[in-house]
Amino acid sequence: MSLVLGIETTCDETAAAVVRDGRTVLSSVVGSQAALHEPYGGVVPEIAARAHIETLNGLVEKAMRQAGAAPADLTAIAAPNRPGLIGCLLVGVSAAKAFAFAWERPLICVNHVEAHLYSACLRSASACAEMAGPPLPALGLVISGGHTSLYRVHDFVHIECLGATIDDAAGEAFDKVAAILGLGYPGGPQVDRLAGDGNPHAVKFPISLLGRDSLDFSFSGLKTAVLYQVQGGAAPAARRGAASSNAGPAPRPPGRGARRTGPPIPPRSADIAASFQYAVVEALRIKLRRAAKRHPVRSVIIGGGVSANRRVRAMMEALGGELGLPVYLPAAEFCTDNAAMIAGLAAELHRHGVTHTLDTPVIATI
Ligand code: KG4
Ligand code: ZN
Repeated sequence: MSLVLGIETTCDETAAAVVRDGRTVLSSVVGSQAALHEPYGGVVPEIAARAHIETLNGLVEKAMRQAGAAPADLTAIAAPNRPGLIGCLLVGVSAAKAFAFAWERPLICVNHVEAHLYSACLRSASACAEMAGPPLPALGLVISGGHTSLYRVHDFVHIECLGATIDDAAGEAFDKVAAILGLGYPGGPQVDRLAGDGNPHAVKFPISLLGRDSLDFSFSGLKTAVLYQVQGGAAPAARRGAASSNAGPAPRPPGRGARRTGPPIPPRSADIAASFQYAVVEALRIKLRRAAKRHPVRSVIIGGGVSANRRVRAMMEALGGELGLPVYLPAAEFCTDNAAMIAGLAAELHRHGVTHTLDTPVIATI
């Protein structure tokens, strides 16, 4: 049996978790910093790093207590050393090194983005069914606030990148569109909710495919198109906290047969959100399909904050049916940043003999 303590501090979530045998999550605690960054409309790196320092030890203690684990029970201690905000990475890796040194346990450093891929392999301790891992090789998609990348996962030690965004990440586009619509931060879940009330075909936003063969992504043009739509069409900003209602005071277009005079009525915020979301999901679907046709795989796995999106999840299920491949989606609690995925991937690396020395550096880029 293996028992790994995972630590996560790459961005604005401080988290700790204990995972058994790389699969079963005995504890997973996440301290969100959203309220600290909300006034700035985005993550402030120095505030994030300082907040990690203040909360990490308490969260590690809580995760160990909830798991009923003592330091001597641990097989290893893990933290991501790349990619992320450099000050934030330093806090987590330094803490993991200190625990590893003090408790005389091996240190394992993982890639945060690859850990997102692993999140679909996790099950909570309360889940009854034993879950087999995805058959490999798998096609992997990570859609997060910082990354949008396609992978072929040969095994979790050998992960080949097939394509990535050349500008904004999908989550970043969600956050920026949320800001344009006045929905607050973090915006992805709010756009998801608002889009539920909208018509995905109300506005034809561009779906950037970057040529016939490309497996890369681009979302910055789409974000700009939303900005022009809102500014040019004078689409109303939704009130903060009103995301699930018919946000925006613009009247609905008149029904069939109604007479309309004056300038065209701008689309509602909900329609813009739904149309934007449709364009993102279509780009993801088309690239996944393209990659699956080109690279023989036995399953499809996704991870990252945007994999919590309802339309993304529905598209993935449908695509799996179309391709005849099983699809592995992370449980909601493991989509966004968490430490269970760090501990899980580290357990897998440890099984393959990977450990790291105490002079392992942190690296901001992938
Ligand atoms: O994976 P994650 O927690 O952090 C990074 O590694 O970047 O992803 C955070 C991103 C944010 O951009 C957030 O707005 C987005 O995931 N997100 C969503 C949803 N939930 C979180 N985007 C769309 N729909 C959602 N339901
Ligand atoms: Zn992440």
